[in-house]
Amino acid sequence: MLRCLVADLSRKDFGADRSLKNLKKFLPYIDALEVRADPENPPSPSQVEELCGTGFSMVILSGLSSEEDILRLLRPEIAWVDLEEGLSCPTLEKNAAEMGIGLIRSIAAEEGLPENPGERVRRIAATGAIPRITCGPRSSGEVLELLKIARSLRDVKQKIITGEGLFAFFGRIAPWLFGSMMTFLTQDEEALESGEIDPHSLERVYGFSEHCRSTRIYGIIGKPVMHTRSPHLHNRWFTGAGLDAVYLPFHVDDVEAFMGAAELIGLKGFSVTVPHKHAVIPLLDYVGPEVAAIGSCNTVVRTERGWEGSNTDFEGFLKPLDSLVPSGNIRSALVIGAGGAARAVVYALVGRGISVEVVNRTASKAESLAVEMGASWKNIEDVQGAAEKGGYDLVVQTTSAGMYPDIETDPLPRYEFNGAETVYDIIYAPEKTIFLERAEKSGAVIIGGKGMLEAQAEGQFELFRKVYSLQAE
Ligand code: ATR
Repeated sequence: MLRCLVADLSRKDFGADRSLKNLKKFLPYIDALEVRADPENPPSPSQVEELCGTGFSMVILSGLSSEEDILRLLRPEIAWVDLEEGLSCPTLEKNAAEMGIGLIRSIAAEEGLPENPGERVRRIAATGAIPRITCGPRSSGEVLELLKIARSLRDVKQKIITGEGLFAFFGRIAPWLFGSMMTFLTQDEEALESGEIDPHSLERVYGFSEHCRSTRIYGIIGKPVMHTRSPHLHNRWFTGAGLDAVYLPFHVDDVEAFMGAAELIGLKGFSVTVPHKHAVIPLLDYVGPEVAAIGSCNTVVRTERGWEGSNTDFEGFLKPLDSLVPSGNIRSALVIGAGGAARAVVYALVGRGISVEVVNRTASKAESLAVEMGASWKNIEDVQGAAEKGGYDLVVQTTSAGMYPDIETDPLPRYEFNGAETVYDIIYAPEKTIFLERAEKSGAVIIGGKGMLEAQAEGQFELFRKVYSLQAE
């Protein structure tokens, strides 16, 4: 599997000096360099010579459609010349063959998928050139289609398939899932937003050089998902446990289409984040009792019986609490919020026999959550003000009020802490919300959301480990 760094000469920031220095720092992480020329302003032979001299063992020259321009630039260091699928260039073909330079023939579809890809790829492969598809899947459905195309072309051994953009991003990290012999990388470390990745992140976060076609695939689905820290945690844990697995981010807009893709790539398990924690449930073969009760699933694994859904949020919530407060010390709790996170928290506390009261900005939601889960509820006004001071052993804040970037918001500004409660805010960014700061000043024991985040991920990892060795049916 080759890692190819793209040196895009049409980019304004690609000044010759800076880029060459930059390129060299990637040498240990890169197998090939694509010199993508600007057809409006083709490079000079000396510029190509300089780029070929950067030490990369393989160079691809691409972007040009004038046979004459390309002929001027051919050099023995060039491994492949990338040409448009239908470009006729008999002299170039002859000269390249004499110099031992291979041809890549490109099929491009900027938006969506190419027409008749199977037929076109086979026609190119029959000429001895390497077929290359570059396309831009716009949905999980199109990613599924692209995976099917790749599967139907399994007999074409040498091919390149790149899905650009967020939906097919996982293929940059695991190109073999699309049957591609190569992945393309950018120099830009901030490129995640556009679905690209730089060589350092590919190695440091995903351990690319350790992987091969038999590497087990795990991941996380969400939208947005690109900036989640979960790949950092799970990939580190897989490596630490000596397991050959990689955990990828899947940008997903349609969970059903994703489940089709999951079957095709033999996914072993995945984390589920916003907004799919509810939508994934009916697509699973069976779920744990906590998933049915909370109505939310954050972990799915492939077992012998099919797709199994669990929820590690509620245990993840209890773990930091248990490590600080003996459970017998908590008899009453106030939960702020009535969304998905609150459901996991109320489920966990009621399950322990704790008397729980729910308050929420929209009181009707507090009421329906409380009724469903065997808790009680109050209007926000009824728990604010000195007259109501204290009264709970535990206060749990589950809303997004106070979360980055909305860090000045206090969800219960007039609630007066008595200083004897334990106050737990499940927000992890910032580590200490202004609600927690206020609680701390009163002398209360405080717990931020980072512990829960890590504990729910540890719970997921345990589930992932259990299915690691199971054979796919
Ligand atoms: P999650 O899955 O993170 O719980 P959610 O299901 O969208 O997300 O629920 C968000 C919760 O945060 C709700 O309880 C919401 O209150 P409403 O039901 O009144 O919408 C609460 N929330 C969000 N922003 C808030 C704010 N600025 N002040 C108070 N509560 C807020």
